[in-house]
Amino acid sequence: MERPAWVPRSIDISVPSVSRIYDFYLGGSHNFEVDREAARRAMEFMPGLPKIMQANRAFMRRAVRFATEEGIDQFLDIGSGIPTFGNVHEVAARARPGARVVYVDHDPVAVAHSEAVLADLDDADVVVADLRGPREILAAPQVERLIDLNRPVALLLVAILHFVEDADDPYAAVAELSDALAPGSLLVLTHASYEHVPLPAEQAGGAVDVYKDIRNPLIMRSRDDIARFFKGYDMVEPGLVPMPRWRSEQAPEDEDPYAFSGYAGVGRKA
Ligand SMILES: C[S@@+](CC[C@H](N)C(=O)[O-])C[C@H]1O[C@@H](n2cnc3c(N)ncnc32)[C@H](O)[C@@H]1O
Repeated sequence: MERPAWVPRSIDISVPSVSRIYDFYLGGSHNFEVDREAARRAMEFMPGLPKIMQANRAFMRRAVRFATEEGIDQFLDIGSGIPTFGNVHEVAARARPGARVVYVDHDPVAVAHSEAVLADLDDADVVVADLRGPREILAAPQVERLIDLNRPVALLLVAILHFVEDADDPYAAVAELSDALAPGSLLVLTHASYEHVPLPAEQAGGAVDVYKDIRNPLIMRSRDDIARFFKGYDMVEPGLVPMPRWRSEQAPEDEDPYAFSGYAGVGRKA
């Protein structure tokens, strides 16, 4: 298998990765045949997967704009992925020049690309770290340099928590991060769920099994279990809802039925 020059030496390119599969769904070019093969297998069960990913990105951009309108100018984006169209630092800086962004991902390819995209920028940086180790994230020099934890921050956990199993206690990780944030901070989150998927759950389960096969299990949680991540936050209107229902400019009837899969929400720390 040919190894493109941009691929960090440390990674095994014969193993699919969540961030590169996602990049493929979004039409990006930073993925390998193993990733495309896994993505196509999942799409045999859920052909609308790219629509879900597009709705997820569109929600994220709306939520970042909302945060800037709330006066927030610092963003901690954990599970940020491979840079693609409409990155957080671009959306944030357009609305609030000088906005600061720290990206965090545990995938070396996502981090290598982020470093390349951010090389000439002073207001954004990237950390290689794992959500399951919140203390290391908070202590990272990039976070200390760019984020003032005494002022409100937007904490983005967009399409990441469904990759953290209950055994690794994602609720404790979110609580630890949240404890470090000033009142008025926002938690911006999306999460996969069988609820609102326009398919029988057994069929959607075939796509979920693909992630199990590549050792990155996708944890489908119920609305109630997703809502528990917002402990200590007041929900911003319209609450925890399917992605196109969160302050979208587009009429819900114009959206693809797949876009309604799973949940999105924003909470404000009390
Ligand atoms: C589906 S992508 C989402 C990218 C971006 N947040 C978005 O919504 O467009 C999920 C990302 O989370 C990262 N990820 C998964 N588990 C993680 C963990 N425990 N710690 C840090 N990053 C993680 C993956 O490497 C991947 O880049």
